[in-house]
Amino acid sequence: MTALTTVADPEAVAARAATRIASLIAQARERRGVAHVALAGGGTPRRAYELLAGLVERWDGVELWFGDERCVAPDDEQSNYRMVREALLSRIAIDDAGVHRVRGELGPERAARDYARELCERVATDASGTPVLDVAVHGLGPDGHTASLFPGQPSLGVRDQLAVGVAEAGLEPFVPRVSLTLTALTGGRHVVVLAEGPSKAGALAAAFGPRAVPGPEVPASMLAPETRDLTVLIDARAAAGLDLGGTAR
Ligand code: 6PG
Repeated sequence: MTALTTVADPEAVAARAATRIASLIAQARERRGVAHVALAGGGTPRRAYELLAGLVERWDGVELWFGDERCVAPDDEQSNYRMVREALLSRIAIDDAGVHRVRGELGPERAARDYARELCERVATDASGTPVLDVAVHGLGPDGHTASLFPGQPSLGVRDQLAVGVAEAGLEPFVPRVSLTLTALTGGRHVVVLAEGPSKAGALAAAFGPRAVPGPEVPASMLAPETRDLTVLIDARAAAGLDLGGTAR
């Protein structure tokens, strides 16, 4: 099921996303004693993570993962881990063992192998052997990419692996990446996509609009057909002029 919600502005996107993620964390921990959450990188989710820090009272039983990472040092300004550390980890009490950083500094292939192994070791799997994340948070690039799955790249066709090395990013920062594959990203229970601003309007329509045709030219469009529960939160600027059939709030 895909629920697309248009809210007034970026702060409202962040607030709705933080509330949704906190609720899914509580639900997972109540039902299974643990919540596995894969966080998106980039800039859009930063504010949502800052708000999330204040919405979850205790972080024991929460395990944080990353949907993708740039192959840079963890203190590099391009590091998704650094952004999450600044926006979230620095504001909460969570054990180091509950934060699974992608060691991108090892290079895309080695880092992807190590990360996939860690996922398999820590996350309960479904009948197909795929680890079932409780929440996967996604951003959306203006080219329709999500995580580090870029239009037309071979990584989109990798379905027998959980993580993949991406030698050439399709959008800045043009550094090698590690990305969860569609198998890992859609094998979870819930996906939450955040997008805001006019630069994302075209990608939103192509990915989630009523005339979207799922396919590798718009990687984010490949989420909906395989995701059990998809929430798309966008602001009015991103939705402007789009016939998304969304519900303005
Ligand atoms: C990354 C992200 C990427 C991001 C989009 C949108 O590592 O860059 O995971 O998928 O979500 O590029 O980025 P913004 O939120 O900065 O627009």
